[in-house]
Amino acid sequence: MAHVRLEHLVKHFGPVRAVDDLNLSVQQGEFFSLLGPSGCGKTTTLRMIAGFEQPDVGTIWFAERDVTSLKPSERQVGMVFQNYALFPHMSVGENIAFGLKARKVEAGDIPRRIRQALNRVDLNGYEDRPVTALSGGQQQRVALARALVIEPEILLLDEPLSNLDARLRVETREEIRALQQELGITTFYVTHDQDEALAQSDRMAVLLDGKPAQIGTPREVYNAPASREVMAFLGQANFLSGEIEAGSNGSMTVRLTAGWKIHAPAQALPAGRKVTVAFRPHAVELQPEDQAPAMMARVISVIYTGPAEELLLEYEGARFSAVLNLKDHDKRLHPGDLVPFHIPKKRIHLFPGEV
Ligand SMILES: Nc1ncnc2c1ncn2[C@@H]1O[C@H](COP(=O)(O)OP(=O)(O)OP(=O)(O)O)[C@@H](O)[C@H]1O
Ligand SMILES: [Mg+2]
Repeated sequence: MAHVRLEHLVKHFGPVRAVDDLNLSVQQGEFFSLLGPSGCGKTTTLRMIAGFEQPDVGTIWFAERDVTSLKPSERQVGMVFQNYALFPHMSVGENIAFGLKARKVEAGDIPRRIRQALNRVDLNGYEDRPVTALSGGQQQRVALARALVIEPEILLLDEPLSNLDARLRVETREEIRALQQELGITTFYVTHDQDEALAQSDRMAVLLDGKPAQIGTPREVYNAPASREVMAFLGQANFLSGEIEAGSNGSMTVRLTAGWKIHAPAQALPAGRKVTVAFRPHAVELQPEDQAPAMMARVISVIYTGPAEELLLEYEGARFSAVLNLKDHDKRLHPGDLVPFHIPKKRIHLFPGEV
Protein backbone atom coordinates (compact mmCIF):
# COMPACT_ATOMS: atom_id res chain seq x y z
CA MET A 1 0.00 0.00 0.00
CA ALA A 2 1.23 3.48 -0.81
CA HIS A 3 2.39 5.49 2.18
CA VAL A 4 1.04 8.79 0.85
CA ARG A 5 -1.70 8.98 -1.74
CA LEU A 6 -3.02 12.22 -3.18
CA GLU A 7 -6.36 11.69 -4.86
CA HIS A 8 -7.83 14.27 -7.23
CA LEU A 9 -6.43 17.24 -5.31
CA VAL A 10 -7.64 20.64 -6.50
CA LYS A 11 -6.73 23.98 -4.95
CA HIS A 12 -7.76 27.42 -6.18
CA PHE A 13 -6.65 30.82 -4.93
CA GLY A 14 -9.33 33.11 -6.34
CA PRO A 15 -9.13 32.62 -10.09
CA VAL A 16 -5.75 30.83 -9.94
CA ARG A 17 -5.92 27.05 -10.21
CA ALA A 18 -2.74 26.31 -8.24
CA VAL A 19 -3.22 22.53 -8.18
CA ASP A 20 -5.34 20.88 -10.81
CA ASP A 21 -6.62 17.35 -10.21
CA LEU A 22 -3.36 15.99 -8.83
CA ASN A 23 -3.04 12.21 -8.37
CA LEU A 24 0.11 10.78 -6.87
CA SER A 25 1.20 7.74 -4.83
CA VAL A 26 4.44 7.59 -2.89
CA GLN A 27 5.76 4.45 -1.22
CA GLN A 28 7.10 4.00 2.31
CA GLY A 29 10.71 5.26 2.49
CA GLU A 30 10.68 6.68 -1.02
CA PHE A 31 12.50 9.91 -1.90
CA PHE A 32 10.07 11.56 -4.30
CA SER A 33 10.81 14.89 -6.01
CA LEU A 34 8.32 17.37 -7.36
CA LEU A 35 10.06 19.29 -10.09
CA GLY A 36 8.53 22.18 -11.97
CA PRO A 37 8.79 25.83 -12.88
CA SER A 38 7.89 28.68 -10.56
CA GLY A 39 4.16 28.89 -9.88
CA CYS A 40 3.32 25.32 -10.95
CA GLY A 41 1.87 24.46 -7.53
CA LYS A 42 4.77 22.74 -5.71
CA THR A 43 4.56 24.65 -2.43
CA THR A 44 0.76 24.46 -2.43
CA THR A 45 0.97 20.67 -2.80
CA LEU A 46 3.36 20.33 0.13
CA ARG A 47 1.27 22.67 2.28
CA MET A 48 -1.77 20.48 1.64
CA ILE A 49 0.16 17.34 2.63
CA ALA A 50 1.31 19.08 5.83
CA GLY A 51 -2.19 20.39 6.58
CA PHE A 52 -1.45 24.12 6.32
CA GLU A 53 -3.80 24.36 3.36
CA GLN A 54 -7.10 22.55 2.78
CA PRO A 55 -7.77 21.21 -0.72
CA ASP A 56 -10.99 22.42 -2.38
CA VAL A 57 -11.51 18.91 -3.72
CA GLY A 58 -9.77 15.60 -3.16
CA THR A 59 -8.42 13.32 -0.46
CA ILE A 60 -5.03 12.87 1.19
CA TRP A 61 -4.27 9.38 2.49
CA PHE A 62 -1.41 8.35 4.80
CA ALA A 63 -1.53 4.58 4.33
CA GLU A 64 -5.19 3.69 5.01
CA ARG A 65 -5.86 6.87 7.03
CA ASP A 66 -7.75 9.78 5.45
CA VAL A 67 -5.92 12.82 6.89
CA THR A 68 -7.52 15.47 4.69
CA SER A 69 -9.20 17.31 7.53
CA LEU A 70 -6.55 16.77 10.25
CA LYS A 71 -4.60 19.71 11.70
CA PRO A 72 -0.84 19.90 10.97
CA SER A 73 0.04 18.87 14.54
CA GLU A 74 -2.08 15.71 14.12
CA ARG A 75 -0.22 14.51 11.02
CA GLN A 76 3.37 13.53 12.02
CA VAL A 77 4.75 15.49 9.10
CA GLY A 78 7.98 17.51 9.29
CA MET A 79 8.38 20.36 6.84
CA VAL A 80 11.32 22.51 5.81
CA PHE A 81 9.82 25.63 4.30
CA GLN A 82 11.04 27.55 1.30
CA ASN A 83 13.34 30.21 2.91
CA TYR A 84 13.34 28.16 6.17
CA ALA A 85 10.77 30.32 8.05
CA LEU A 86 12.76 30.20 11.30
CA PHE A 87 11.54 32.44 14.13
CA PRO A 88 14.15 35.22 14.21
CA HIS A 89 13.55 36.26 17.82
CA MET A 90 14.18 32.72 19.11
CA SER A 91 17.34 30.74 19.73
CA VAL A 92 18.22 27.64 17.74
CA GLY A 93 16.93 25.43 20.56
CA GLU A 94 13.63 27.34 20.89
CA ASN A 95 13.07 27.06 17.16
CA ILE A 96 13.56 23.33 17.28
CA ALA A 97 11.38 22.94 20.40
CA PHE A 98 8.45 24.71 18.75
CA GLY A 99 6.93 21.64 17.11
CA LEU A 100 7.48 19.53 20.24
CA LYS A 101 5.51 21.99 22.36
CA ALA A 102 2.70 22.07 19.78
CA ARG A 103 2.60 18.28 20.10
CA LYS A 104 2.58 18.44 23.92
CA VAL A 105 5.83 16.53 24.35
CA GLU A 106 6.81 16.37 28.04
CA ALA A 107 8.98 19.38 28.97
CA GLY A 108 11.62 17.23 30.65
CA ASP A 109 12.24 15.32 27.41
CA ILE A 110 12.66 18.39 25.19
CA PRO A 111 16.37 19.22 25.80
CA ARG A 112 17.40 15.66 24.94
CA ARG A 113 15.30 15.71 21.76
CA ILE A 114 16.85 19.04 20.74
CA ARG A 115 20.37 17.72 21.27
CA GLN A 116 19.62 14.60 19.26
CA ALA A 117 18.16 16.65 16.38
CA LEU A 118 21.16 19.01 16.36
CA ASN A 119 23.48 16.03 16.37
CA ARG A 120 21.74 14.64 13.27
CA VAL A 121 22.49 17.82 11.31
CA ASP A 122 26.00 18.29 12.69
CA LEU A 123 25.26 21.35 14.84
CA ASN A 124 26.16 20.01 18.30
CA GLY A 125 26.24 22.75 20.94
CA TYR A 126 24.33 25.36 18.92
CA GLU A 127 21.08 25.34 20.95
CA ASP A 128 21.57 28.71 22.70
CA ARG A 129 22.70 30.73 19.66
CA PRO A 130 20.31 33.24 18.11
CA VAL A 131 19.27 31.92 14.68
CA THR A 132 20.03 35.33 13.18
CA ALA A 133 23.71 34.76 14.02
CA LEU A 134 23.94 31.69 11.76
CA SER A 135 25.04 31.42 8.15
CA GLY A 136 22.54 30.41 5.46
CA GLY A 137 23.83 26.83 5.46
CA GLN A 138 23.54 26.58 9.24
CA GLN A 139 20.01 28.02 9.21
CA GLN A 140 19.12 25.42 6.64
CA ARG A 141 20.33 22.71 9.05
CA VAL A 142 18.32 24.19 11.92
CA ALA A 143 15.22 24.10 9.72
CA LEU A 144 15.97 20.44 8.96
CA ALA A 145 16.52 19.68 12.67
CA ARG A 146 13.20 21.38 13.48
CA ALA A 147 11.45 19.18 10.92
CA LEU A 148 13.13 15.97 12.15
CA VAL A 149 12.78 16.51 15.90
CA ILE A 150 9.12 15.51 15.90
CA GLU A 151 10.18 12.13 14.44
CA PRO A 152 7.88 12.55 11.48
CA GLU A 153 6.55 9.74 9.35
CA ILE A 154 6.80 12.01 6.35
CA LEU A 155 9.36 14.70 5.54
CA LEU A 156 8.51 17.61 3.24
CA LEU A 157 11.36 19.71 1.90
CA ASP A 158 10.49 22.86 -0.07
CA GLU A 159 13.52 23.99 -2.07
CA PRO A 160 15.69 23.57 1.01
CA LEU A 161 18.92 24.38 -0.80
CA SER A 162 17.95 27.43 -2.81
CA ASN A 163 19.78 29.89 -0.54
CA LEU A 164 23.08 28.03 -0.56
CA ASP A 165 26.05 28.49 -2.87
CA ALA A 166 26.72 25.85 -5.52
CA ARG A 167 29.25 23.79 -3.56
CA LEU A 168 27.33 23.79 -0.30
CA ARG A 169 24.24 22.82 -2.27
CA VAL A 170 25.81 19.63 -3.55
CA GLU A 171 27.28 18.78 -0.12
CA THR A 172 24.03 19.42 1.74
CA ARG A 173 21.96 17.55 -0.82
CA GLU A 174 24.14 14.47 -0.29
CA GLU A 175 23.77 14.80 3.48
CA ILE A 176 20.00 15.08 3.22
CA ARG A 177 19.85 12.00 1.04
CA ALA A 178 22.07 10.02 3.44
CA LEU A 179 19.99 11.08 6.44
CA GLN A 180 16.77 10.25 4.62
CA GLN A 181 18.06 6.75 3.84
CA GLU A 182 19.34 6.22 7.37
CA LEU A 183 15.97 7.16 8.84
CA GLY A 184 14.01 5.43 6.05
CA ILE A 185 11.63 8.37 6.02
CA THR A 186 9.16 8.95 3.19
CA THR A 187 10.23 12.25 1.64
CA PHE A 188 8.76 14.79 -0.74
CA TYR A 189 11.41 17.07 -2.12
CA VAL A 190 10.39 20.17 -4.04
CA THR A 191 12.82 21.80 -6.41
CA HIS A 192 12.99 23.64 -9.68
CA ASP A 193 16.56 22.41 -10.11
CA GLN A 194 16.62 19.43 -12.45
CA ASP A 195 20.08 18.28 -11.38
CA GLU A 196 18.93 17.96 -7.79
CA ALA A 197 15.85 16.01 -8.79
CA LEU A 198 17.78 13.69 -11.11
CA ALA A 199 20.63 13.10 -8.68
CA GLN A 200 18.79 12.05 -5.57
CA SER A 201 15.24 10.90 -6.29
CA ASP A 202 13.92 7.37 -6.27
CA ARG A 203 11.10 8.73 -8.42
CA MET A 204 10.02 12.16 -9.50
CA ALA A 205 7.09 14.03 -10.99
CA VAL A 206 7.48 16.86 -13.47
CA LEU A 207 4.70 19.26 -12.54
CA LEU A 208 3.47 21.68 -15.16
CA ASP A 209 0.47 23.92 -14.44
CA GLY A 210 -0.58 22.10 -11.28
CA LYS A 211 -0.56 18.61 -12.85
CA PRO A 212 2.07 15.90 -13.19
CA ALA A 213 3.14 15.88 -16.82
CA GLN A 214 5.15 12.72 -16.11
CA ILE A 215 5.99 10.49 -13.15
CA GLY A 216 8.85 8.00 -13.09
CA THR A 217 12.42 7.29 -12.09
CA PRO A 218 14.93 9.99 -13.07
CA ARG A 219 16.21 7.78 -15.90
CA GLU A 220 12.73 7.09 -17.25
CA VAL A 221 11.74 10.72 -17.27
CA TYR A 222 15.02 11.97 -18.73
CA ASN A 223 15.44 9.27 -21.37
CA ALA A 224 11.81 8.81 -22.37
CA PRO A 225 10.10 12.16 -21.89
CA ALA A 226 6.35 11.84 -22.35
CA SER A 227 5.95 15.18 -24.09
CA ARG A 228 7.85 18.01 -25.66
CA GLU A 229 7.13 20.12 -22.56
CA VAL A 230 8.73 17.57 -20.24
CA MET A 231 11.74 17.21 -22.51
CA ALA A 232 12.16 20.98 -22.68
CA PHE A 233 11.87 21.38 -18.93
CA LEU A 234 14.14 18.51 -17.95
CA GLY A 235 17.54 19.08 -19.49
CA GLN A 236 18.51 20.69 -22.74
CA ALA A 237 16.91 19.74 -25.99
CA ASN A 238 16.85 20.63 -29.66
CA PHE A 239 13.49 20.82 -31.42
CA LEU A 240 13.12 20.83 -35.21
CA SER A 241 9.92 20.77 -37.25
CA GLY A 242 9.32 18.01 -39.74
CA GLU A 243 6.86 15.71 -41.44
CA ILE A 244 6.68 11.93 -41.39
CA GLU A 245 7.72 10.65 -44.78
CA ALA A 246 7.54 6.89 -44.31
CA GLY A 247 7.95 4.14 -41.80
CA SER A 248 9.24 0.59 -42.20
CA ASN A 249 11.12 -2.10 -40.25
CA GLY A 250 11.15 -0.42 -36.87
CA SER A 251 12.24 2.89 -38.29
CA MET A 252 10.66 6.09 -39.58
CA THR A 253 11.99 8.73 -41.88
CA VAL A 254 11.17 12.34 -41.13
CA ARG A 255 11.71 15.12 -43.63
CA LEU A 256 12.67 18.22 -41.71
CA THR A 257 11.25 21.58 -42.73
CA ALA A 258 14.91 22.55 -43.23
CA GLY A 259 15.01 20.00 -46.10
CA TRP A 260 17.14 17.08 -44.87
CA LYS A 261 15.98 13.75 -43.56
CA ILE A 262 16.43 12.15 -40.19
CA HIS A 263 15.69 8.61 -38.97
CA ALA A 264 13.75 7.93 -35.79
CA PRO A 265 12.51 4.84 -33.95
CA ALA A 266 9.14 3.61 -35.27
CA GLN A 267 6.02 5.15 -33.80
CA ALA A 268 2.34 5.09 -34.59
CA LEU A 269 2.40 8.24 -36.68
CA PRO A 270 1.09 8.18 -40.26
CA ALA A 271 2.93 9.54 -43.30
CA GLY A 272 2.21 13.23 -43.76
CA ARG A 273 1.82 13.95 -40.02
CA LYS A 274 3.60 17.10 -38.83
CA VAL A 275 5.97 16.33 -35.98
CA THR A 276 8.59 17.81 -33.72
CA VAL A 277 11.93 16.03 -33.92
CA ALA A 278 13.72 16.29 -30.58
CA PHE A 279 17.19 15.29 -29.39
CA ARG A 280 19.54 16.21 -26.57
CA PRO A 281 22.76 18.08 -27.36
CA HIS A 282 24.65 15.08 -25.94
CA ALA A 283 23.03 12.85 -28.55
CA VAL A 284 24.87 14.56 -31.41
CA GLU A 285 27.98 12.58 -32.38
CA LEU A 286 30.66 14.58 -34.09
CA GLN A 287 31.80 11.95 -36.51
CA PRO A 288 30.41 10.53 -39.72
CA GLU A 289 27.79 7.82 -39.59
CA ASP A 290 29.28 4.45 -40.60
CA GLN A 291 29.11 3.82 -44.36
CA ALA A 292 27.18 7.00 -45.09
CA PRO A 293 28.41 10.11 -46.85
CA ALA A 294 29.31 12.58 -44.12
CA MET A 295 26.90 15.38 -43.26
CA MET A 296 29.01 18.43 -42.49
CA ALA A 297 27.65 21.00 -40.06
CA ARG A 298 29.01 24.51 -39.75
CA VAL A 299 30.11 25.67 -36.32
CA ILE A 300 28.26 28.91 -35.43
CA SER A 301 29.54 29.40 -31.88
CA VAL A 302 31.57 27.64 -29.21
CA ILE A 303 31.14 28.00 -25.45
CA TYR A 304 33.81 26.48 -23.22
CA THR A 305 32.45 24.97 -19.98
CA GLY A 306 35.49 23.14 -18.60
CA PRO A 307 34.92 19.46 -19.30
CA ALA A 308 33.06 20.14 -22.53
CA GLU A 309 32.35 22.64 -25.27
CA GLU A 310 28.80 23.59 -26.17
CA LEU A 311 28.53 24.09 -29.88
CA LEU A 312 25.82 25.76 -31.90
CA LEU A 313 25.81 24.01 -35.27
CA GLU A 314 23.99 24.63 -38.52
CA TYR A 315 23.22 22.12 -41.21
CA GLU A 316 21.16 23.06 -44.26
CA GLY A 317 19.16 25.75 -42.53
CA ALA A 318 18.60 23.95 -39.22
CA ARG A 319 20.42 25.12 -36.11
CA PHE A 320 20.94 22.87 -33.12
CA SER A 321 23.27 22.58 -30.18
CA ALA A 322 25.72 19.80 -29.50
CA VAL A 323 28.02 19.04 -26.60
CA LEU A 324 31.57 18.12 -27.36
CA ASN A 325 33.21 16.11 -24.59
CA LEU A 326 36.77 17.44 -24.51
CA LYS A 327 38.14 14.15 -23.19
CA ASP A 328 37.40 12.54 -26.57
CA HIS A 329 38.52 15.41 -28.78
CA ASP A 330 41.80 17.25 -28.87
CA LYS A 331 41.17 19.36 -31.96
CA ARG A 332 39.83 22.80 -31.07
CA LEU A 333 36.84 23.99 -33.02
CA HIS A 334 36.17 27.57 -34.11
CA PRO A 335 33.19 29.37 -35.62
CA GLY A 336 33.12 28.70 -39.35
CA ASP A 337 34.70 25.22 -39.09
CA LEU A 338 32.93 22.29 -40.73
CA VAL A 339 32.42 19.10 -38.69
CA PRO A 340 30.91 15.76 -39.64
CA PHE A 341 27.97 14.83 -37.44
CA HIS A 342 25.49 12.06 -36.89
CA ILE A 343 22.52 11.68 -34.55
CA PRO A 344 21.87 8.01 -33.71
CA LYS A 345 18.33 6.95 -34.51
CA LYS A 346 17.62 5.67 -31.01
CA ARG A 347 18.37 9.10 -29.51
CA ILE A 348 15.66 10.82 -31.57
CA HIS A 349 12.25 11.54 -30.04
CA LEU A 350 9.17 12.41 -32.08
CA PHE A 351 6.23 14.38 -30.72
CA PRO A 352 3.03 15.15 -32.63
CA GLY A 353 2.72 18.72 -33.91
CA GLU A 354 5.31 21.15 -35.18
CA VAL A 355 7.71 23.14 -32.97
N1 LIG B 1 -1.87 32.17 -0.55
C1 LIG B 1 -2.01 32.38 -1.85
N2 LIG B 1 -2.88 33.32 -2.30
C2 LIG B 1 -3.04 33.52 -3.62
N3 LIG B 1 -2.40 32.86 -4.59
C3 LIG B 1 -1.54 31.93 -4.21
C4 LIG B 1 -1.28 31.64 -2.83
N4 LIG B 1 -0.37 30.65 -2.75
C5 LIG B 1 -0.05 30.34 -4.03
N5 LIG B 1 -0.75 31.09 -4.91
C6 LIG B 1 -0.68 30.99 -6.40
O1 LIG B 1 -0.81 29.63 -6.74
C7 LIG B 1 0.10 29.27 -7.76
C8 LIG B 1 1.00 28.16 -7.28
O2 LIG B 1 1.82 28.66 -6.25
P1 LIG B 1 2.93 27.80 -5.50
O3 LIG B 1 3.48 28.65 -4.41
O4 LIG B 1 2.35 26.49 -5.12
O5 LIG B 1 4.00 27.61 -6.66
P2 LIG B 1 5.45 26.96 -6.62
O6 LIG B 1 5.45 25.87 -7.63
O7 LIG B 1 5.82 26.60 -5.21
O8 LIG B 1 6.37 28.15 -7.16
P3 LIG B 1 7.87 28.59 -6.72
O9 LIG B 1 8.81 27.67 -7.46
O10 LIG B 1 7.98 29.98 -7.22
O11 LIG B 1 8.00 28.49 -5.24
C9 LIG B 1 0.83 30.56 -8.13
O12 LIG B 1 0.18 31.11 -9.25
C10 LIG B 1 0.67 31.42 -6.91
O13 LIG B 1 0.69 32.78 -7.25
MG1 LIG C 1 7.23 27.30 -3.89
